[in-house]
Amino acid sequence: MGFEEMDVDTIWMDGEFTDWADAQVHVLTHSLHYGTAVFEGVRCYDTEQGPAIFRWEEHLDRLYQSAAALDHEIEHTREELTEATLELIRRQDLRSCYIRPLVYYGYDSLGVSPEECPTDTMIACWPWGAYLGEEALEEGVDVMVSSWRKHHSSMIPTNVKATGAYINSMLAGEEARGNGYIEAIVLNKEGDVAEGPGENVFMVNDGEIYTPGLAESILDGITRQTVIDIATDLGYEVHEEAKIARGQLYTADELFFTGTAAEVTPIRTVDDKEIGAGTRGPVTEEIQQRFFDVVERRTDDYDDWFSYV
Ligand SMILES: Cc1ncc(COP(=O)(O)O)c(C=O)c1O
Repeated sequence: MGFEEMDVDTIWMDGEFTDWADAQVHVLTHSLHYGTAVFEGVRCYDTEQGPAIFRWEEHLDRLYQSAAALDHEIEHTREELTEATLELIRRQDLRSCYIRPLVYYGYDSLGVSPEECPTDTMIACWPWGAYLGEEALEEGVDVMVSSWRKHHSSMIPTNVKATGAYINSMLAGEEARGNGYIEAIVLNKEGDVAEGPGENVFMVNDGEIYTPGLAESILDGITRQTVIDIATDLGYEVHEEAKIARGQLYTADELFFTGTAAEVTPIRTVDDKEIGAGTRGPVTEEIQQRFFDVVERRTDDYDDWFSYV
């Protein structure tokens, strides 16, 4: 669904609540040319206690860290960004939404080095359902191993959520969709499993859980960490610095994606090969159920992960 069909009307830009249609930048904005913006993707869930932003503080941590890595100096405090976001959700009467803060080099000059370009900040929110489709959460997704490799962290820092890096994600995702798959898995430079274009990858074997570590050139996903915590608390052994060879994908008992957008999505085939029984596996199901119980606040556990609107 496009923005024009959504009931949203306000975007926060550099301290001002702006009409959606007026939230514009100049075509010579530095980050538009060189991919030098950093951003976050955050979800706010509809709960009995009202809308609740999931792990806002961790997303803010990552936003400021990403910004610092690209020499951005965000001109707003954490409190200002938090208040702006809460107010955006309230003003637009959103029960649940996706939140997109973006920090970018603005308009001044177009040398690759941003020099005097200001660091501008905007926040928008809009309703966004299941990223890979509602049925994907139950039935799982068909994925292909991309012919695109993930750039190594020594080329573009992969734990930094920079816009330019998403060329890799876009190419991998488009290749997968062009070939009839729902999503891609991207291998790192060494040929081991890195992540999805917008998701981290988990593998289940003999009741134990494996996910690539940060040295595999992945984003340090907040949902990844959430699932590690939830699974550990459920009693699972979680190997969070795993090296997963491509071939292990084909022989895994279960595979699933995690991400703010994708939440916890089972993977049912890789390169047309069925994973396990070709349906959502039991460990994935237990973790996914627990994840949704937590984010939709059907439990009091982990309450400090939520910022209530
Ligand atoms: C490349 C990439 N990996 C992993 C993730 C998952 O991270 P998170 O759980 O913080 O959304 C995302 C989404 O933000 C992503 O873009």
